[in-house]
Amino acid sequence: MKHLISPMDLSVDEINEILDLAKRIKENPEKYAHVCDGKKIATLFYEPSTRTRLSFETAMLDLGGKVIGFSSADSSSAAKGESVADTIRVISCFADICAIRHPKEGAPKVATLYSDIPVINAGDGGHNHPTQTLTDLLTIKMLKDDLNNLTIGLCGDLKFGRTVHSLINAMVRYKNTKFILISPNELKIPDYLRKEVLEANNIEFTETDELETYMPQLDILYMTRVQRERFFNEEDYVRLKDSFILDEKKMQYARKDMFVLHPLPRVNEISVDVDNDPRAVYFKQVQFGVYARMALIMKLLDIKEPS
Ligand code: NCD
Repeated sequence: MKHLISPMDLSVDEINEILDLAKRIKENPEKYAHVCDGKKIATLFYEPSTRTRLSFETAMLDLGGKVIGFSSADSSSAAKGESVADTIRVISCFADICAIRHPKEGAPKVATLYSDIPVINAGDGGHNHPTQTLTDLLTIKMLKDDLNNLTIGLCGDLKFGRTVHSLINAMVRYKNTKFILISPNELKIPDYLRKEVLEANNIEFTETDELETYMPQLDILYMTRVQRERFFNEEDYVRLKDSFILDEKKMQYARKDMFVLHPLPRVNEISVDVDNDPRAVYFKQVQFGVYARMALIMKLLDIKEPS
């Protein structure tokens, strides 16, 4: 049985297959409207979410399936002290596939050890968020046509931002990727990513705290929120939260064909005046996320393409 815990669980071929399927679904959604008739997804969210949970649920409903789940740890038996291991054994009796978001790194991985159904990591602490990455890759592929030869600026909280970690892990596997890692000194990428992923794969990268300087080089600018919930103290958060604010003035430094992505939610890091810029694609990205998750659900449930 296949689970999706880290982007590395999928080969580049498998990722490309999922993205191609997502594209076909986007072009002809009616064709896929009943492929999951009789199937259920369980969404087990121990941490807040708007997009990811509702995107999984929309994806399953749009495939003809049904949805069960909980949207906070407080409303589940976790509040009574139940372990993830026991919860997933129970959920395996109810659903065909599940998506788990949990504040602890590794919790979805633990679930795979006890699960009879495919488990999808919908975000584990500051670690990984592989379905946001499928969303990001699909967005980039749809807009740029190719995932090779891209210079990607990642800006904001690169230390705790799990979407950043997963995106780096995925993009190093495409040809000639370059990263500009833009963050305050305290929020640089974790050491393991720098050493075991970037340096180990001979990936070109620059770490900086300047956004404007590098703007003209970028094909993609991936903005992120400073992850308040992962900070040890509020003063550090308050000091760092507005380190980078993208506005229309800064957008003038960017190329005409650069796109701005953001996993959302946005707090202050992109000024609303950027929303009307045709290069701001973060709301489009949300729609692509549904197609990416539809394709992933089909793959993990081994559902054949309808004729
Ligand atoms: C992200 C997450 O939960 O990691 N949100 C999302 O799933 N789209 C990013 C964030 O919360 O900043």
